[in-house]
Amino acid sequence: MTQITDYIAQNKQRFLNELIELLKIPSISADNAYSKDVLRTAASVKDALEKAGCDVVEIHETEGYPIVYGEKIINETLPTVLVYGHYDVQPPDPLDLWNSPPFEPVIQKTDLHPEGAIFARGACDDKGQMYMHVKALELMVQTGRLPCNVKFMIEGEEEVGSNNLAIYVAENREKLSNDIILISDTGMIANDIPSITTGLRGLSYVEVEVTGPNRDLHSGLYGGAVANPINILTKMIAGLHDENNRITIPGFYDNVEELSKGERAEMAKAPFSLEAYKKALDIDAVYGEKGYTTNERNAIRPTLDVNGIWGGYTGEGAKTVIASKAFAKISMRLVPNQDWKEITTLFKNHFESIAPKGVKVKVTPHHGGQGYVTPIDTVGYQAASKAYETTFGKKPIPQRSGGSIPIVSLFEKELNSKTILMGFGLDSDAIHSPNEHFGVWNYLKGIETIPYFYQYFTEMNS
Ligand code: BES
Ligand code: MN
Ligand code: MN
Repeated sequence: MTQITDYIAQNKQRFLNELIELLKIPSISADNAYSKDVLRTAASVKDALEKAGCDVVEIHETEGYPIVYGEKIINETLPTVLVYGHYDVQPPDPLDLWNSPPFEPVIQKTDLHPEGAIFARGACDDKGQMYMHVKALELMVQTGRLPCNVKFMIEGEEEVGSNNLAIYVAENREKLSNDIILISDTGMIANDIPSITTGLRGLSYVEVEVTGPNRDLHSGLYGGAVANPINILTKMIAGLHDENNRITIPGFYDNVEELSKGERAEMAKAPFSLEAYKKALDIDAVYGEKGYTTNERNAIRPTLDVNGIWGGYTGEGAKTVIASKAFAKISMRLVPNQDWKEITTLFKNHFESIAPKGVKVKVTPHHGGQGYVTPIDTVGYQAASKAYETTFGKKPIPQRSGGSIPIVSLFEKELNSKTILMGFGLDSDAIHSPNEHFGVWNYLKGIETIPYFYQYFTEMNS
């Protein structure tokens, strides 16, 4: 036992209970009906940071949900770690697919989490992972192990695009100055295969609307004689990929970085079982861009996916109708050199250009952001790697993730610092899906690993 594992063993139950209380608040940033709950969550994060040992904690109001800022500056000459996380969560629907209510956390064992996992919306993304940092701070303060300065910036709008955080960061460069940014909002390969996320994809999210006739029509009286917006929309969408599953938007791949054979071979070394992957998803084959492996398709290649599509009659029974409008929400995952605003424009121009006569097309950009890759020959990465080695007994594997945290590239631009993505979730933790969960072991392992990062980062910097 070390001082760190001792402290965790003694406080384990309380660490779990506190997280469970936080998970009970439905902080759904996408739905205004929950605005009081989102605000309550911010207040509760403030309280937790104060109790953990921050000397200053502020709620910074924005046009949207507030940012909780906290700091403990022990000595101006020591390095400063800036922790970022988010207290908002995704909407929990479809509710009927949850085995227990999303905001009534329960601990249940699973095959991958024999010690139990906390089931609740936000358990992994990101309340559980964010709270590991709060408890790691408490641990370091209580055991006299805090080796450097720490700042916290916890936002409530990550799941809706972080627009107000971007403004806050640009306006508070001095206050947020730091030597490294630390985030736990990603995953790792497996509990016995630790990995550190070295890349995130960018994102362009758009909504499209196709309008045909000025009103819904009888599909017998008018069918075959006017453009049906749903038929047209699905045809337009189908044309966005070619027979090799490459995206057909002109210019889309212009800035895509092609990895060298060596880099791809290095990537392919990460443990991965295609059979297990298919089995976990109940699919008999994978699908994607020709010439790339599954791990390449979901990390180093850009994508285009319909996230939702609607229009016409979807109620019970049948209604014979040609709808006046059809809609879809489309996301494009981008790789680091692709500029998300440029891609949004390329999409808009292309989508408008492929619309046939007889319909009107409207493309509305939602939000987006740049991808990110972090080099591994930095003090920050080396300190993180050594921290995992200490607590997992194994060197972590650097791995690019397919997910996006668009604000990370902005941090680099505005604050001029690198980000270390120490994620402790698993892909199977079902973030954004029904039955999201976070392993109890993972939660405690995060709390154990984080203090070593502080220690090694401070040592390596002096
Ligand atoms: N924490 C996730 C992103 C993530 C998860 C990255 C796992 C890597 C591994 C984050 O909360 C998220 O959901 N991001 C959104 C984008 C955002 C702009 C809504 C995403 O990736 O869809
Ligand atoms: Mn997240
Ligand atoms: Mn998320």
